Amino acid sequence: MNSPSAPTADPSGAGASGAGASGAGASGPVGRALLPATAEIDSAGRLRVGGVDLVGLADEFGTPLFVYDESHLRARCREAVEAWGDGVAYATKAFLCVAMARLAYEEGMCLDVSTGGELHVALSAGVPAERLVLHGSNKSEEELTAALGVGVGRIVIDSFDEIDRLQRLLAASPVRPKVLARITPGVEVHTHEFVRTGQDDSKFGFGLTSGSAAQAVERLSELDARGVVEFVGIHAHLGSQVFALAPFARAVEVLADFFAPLGLPELVVGGGLGVAYVNGEEAPPMVQWASSVRRACSQAGIHDSVRVTAEPGRAIVATAGITLYRVGTIKDVAGHRIYVSVDGGMSDNPRPVLYGSGYEAFLPREAASARPMPIRLVGKHCESGDVVVAEGYVPDDLVVGDVLATPVTGAYGHSMASNYNKVPRPAVVFVADGEARTVVRRETLDDLVRLDV
Ligand SMILES: Cc1ncc(COP(=O)(O)O)c(C=O)c1O
Repeated sequence: MNSPSAPTADPSGAGASGAGASGAGASGPVGRALLPATAEIDSAGRLRVGGVDLVGLADEFGTPLFVYDESHLRARCREAVEAWGDGVAYATKAFLCVAMARLAYEEGMCLDVSTGGELHVALSAGVPAERLVLHGSNKSEEELTAALGVGVGRIVIDSFDEIDRLQRLLAASPVRPKVLARITPGVEVHTHEFVRTGQDDSKFGFGLTSGSAAQAVERLSELDARGVVEFVGIHAHLGSQVFALAPFARAVEVLADFFAPLGLPELVVGGGLGVAYVNGEEAPPMVQWASSVRRACSQAGIHDSVRVTAEPGRAIVATAGITLYRVGTIKDVAGHRIYVSVDGGMSDNPRPVLYGSGYEAFLPREAASARPMPIRLVGKHCESGDVVVAEGYVPDDLVVGDVLATPVTGAYGHSMASNYNKVPRPAVVFVADGEARTVVRRETLDDLVRLDV
């Protein structure tokens, strides 16, 4: 029995507090802003996405099921390219499979891969290596060798050990990779501690305040002068699920004095743009994020010729995704609460356990209905902490066997899924134009023992 973290009180960046929906609109219908772009409610009150009925999907593909609105995904990618220009990278850690890698590439994005595994999936999708950006706070020799071997477009360097490792690997190699240095600007963003990365006390990058950043730049400039690498820029990622744009401008301000004199052609501000998870929340749009960073760059004296770009993950995929569950039990614990248990939980959505993240719950068969009944939506795992929505609301005609949905599960859901309690991982389908296509098949019971010896 591991000890999940207790839901935090502050509206941390990891989605509103674990309480899930609370305050204004909590018991009203699920907010339109939380649903994928092509969501529509038909004359019978049933929710369709991509022209496909969600209850029908659950019947056909089973549950738990991740459903992604394909045209929503494509629109977010295009929006990112329009806002940030060529070079903007999709942070694949948010959600990755071959179909998603191919889609992001087709829509003009580069792909940020942070392990050998993510690199492998992106290459398996046919994404040209030069459109890949290799990240990672502890890149192994194997991962670097694989990346150099295929000729990845950029390597974002995170430590002196990595510089040593790269130097060794390149000693006898004609390859001259483009590299950026990941700098930690000492800017703290308001989000959950586990997804905050830009502060001084961070495992990531070279600290600006400590002087490590200056040393790293010196080393990489020297390697560039010797033709070992092509040192093209500076990277800084502040954290994830950030609603306020001011810290990004602040980071640019802090970095400008350090960056401008270097004469490097590229500046990357990482990812981090937040999304709304529950009714009443609102996140800034992609274009506003980009324009506020660009404004900060010109105000800080960063030259127009510098390519300023970003690496959004959550903002590309989160709202495109919905998870469909089947209600297995409804338990009214007198004097306490009603527990509604579904056929998934922390194994397909660990964010409530990890960060105390909030979500809404609703019934696709009556998506426009009010939700007067307060419940705790829980999973089927052997943990009291296996909570999907701590304080949720559903229509009071909910019954066992109902298909229940949680919206905004497109990011850091499937990609963080596990086989806890040997629960097979869900299938993933893309829906568009009235059709559903499987992009990741459901794990079978046999899949659970295929690696066992
Ligand atoms: C280096 C880097 N870039 C981009 C991202 C994507 O962040 P988000 O999904 O919040 O946009 C992350 C997330 O952890 C990251 O570590």
